Amino acid sequence: MQLEPEDEQILNGEYGETRQKMMELLVGLGKVFGADELIPITSAQVSGASYKTIGKWGLEWLRKMDAKVVVPTVLNPIGMDRLRWKEMGIPEDFAAKQKEVVEAYERLGIELECTCTPYYLSITQFGEHLAWAESSAVCYANSVIGARTNREGGPAALAAAIIGKTPFYGLHIFKNRLPDVGVVIDEPSELKDAADFGALGYVAGKSIGNRIPFFTGIRPNRDQLKAMGAAMAASGAVALFHVDTITPETRFPTFKKDVPETIEVSMAEVREVFSAMDVDAVAVGCPHLSPEELETLATLLTGKTVTKPFFVFAARGVIADHPQAVTAIERSGAKVYADTCVVVSPALDRYDRIMVNSGKALAYVPTMCGAVARIGTLAECVTVATS
Ligand code: F3S
Repeated sequence: MQLEPEDEQILNGEYGETRQKMMELLVGLGKVFGADELIPITSAQVSGASYKTIGKWGLEWLRKMDAKVVVPTVLNPIGMDRLRWKEMGIPEDFAAKQKEVVEAYERLGIELECTCTPYYLSITQFGEHLAWAESSAVCYANSVIGARTNREGGPAALAAAIIGKTPFYGLHIFKNRLPDVGVVIDEPSELKDAADFGALGYVAGKSIGNRIPFFTGIRPNRDQLKAMGAAMAASGAVALFHVDTITPETRFPTFKKDVPETIEVSMAEVREVFSAMDVDAVAVGCPHLSPEELETLATLLTGKTVTKPFFVFAARGVIADHPQAVTAIERSGAKVYADTCVVVSPALDRYDRIMVNSGKALAYVPTMCGAVARIGTLAECVTVATS
């Protein structure tokens, strides 16, 4: 791999051991994937931030790091709201360990915005190269924004944040971003809510795997694209998808719509994902709610009182910008938490049946929370939580 003189010095240990190890990681990754060079990135998003997922060995590794990130970097959700963790019922010992993890990242210069929706914080735009780790964020950045990132592991994203570069391979290269499988739906007009698109992504992702799908015949909005991509990233390993005339790269003259294979998804399969099971709790905001979703939820909950625990998750910056919506939601008894989520927090482990409005949460709640999951629209979640 061709390295700049300064990168060679970093690799030789002239800028300290942590940077040397991070450069070794990037160069090793580049060699495995056939990259010829490192390219600068404009931001990083680091996963492996919840103590529930990284545990004591991850914390040990972080404690040894001695460097600063050189590009804007945010964290994936951690295991609790940093300010309201007691209200969430987080045990003291977990909170203490989680705080250590957060402090370790803070020492590296990472901004304490812990979210899987960093794109709501205006840290990226079309065409930029990134090193993001969280699968739904990667899918949204590549597909909806038209930025370019591989689906990084947590350590690789951190290494890229510290070096400010990432190996040039995979989805950083335009020719690798063309679709290789088509997806059509038999009754696309039946797809109305973000949960419908989440369920579609949940079904389609299983057949797509890690390929790049090209959807035709649907016109999802940004929240619906977010829900569909997150679900495909979870039930499959999708890191980029295209929707004809909707996602930006399909409007390129060089975009090729020919695909060797097309998958047909029926609305009957999508409807089958929905159930009417009784639940113990409701959780929305996977991925974290957009400003529009927060406002819609506030409208739905106004004048109502929840009778079941109702967890709402969003980025701290989004919450701060919408105080009236948050007040309206919390007046119903629902709780709006920042920094964390249904899957990476231990707060929801105490429930056996959880209702969500997300295809991704539907895929992960059984394994990560040990609960049965039910999917419904945002309005259905409100109905169930207030009945
Ligand atoms: Fe985000 Fe947690 Fe869902 S990280 S995409 S809210 S599982």
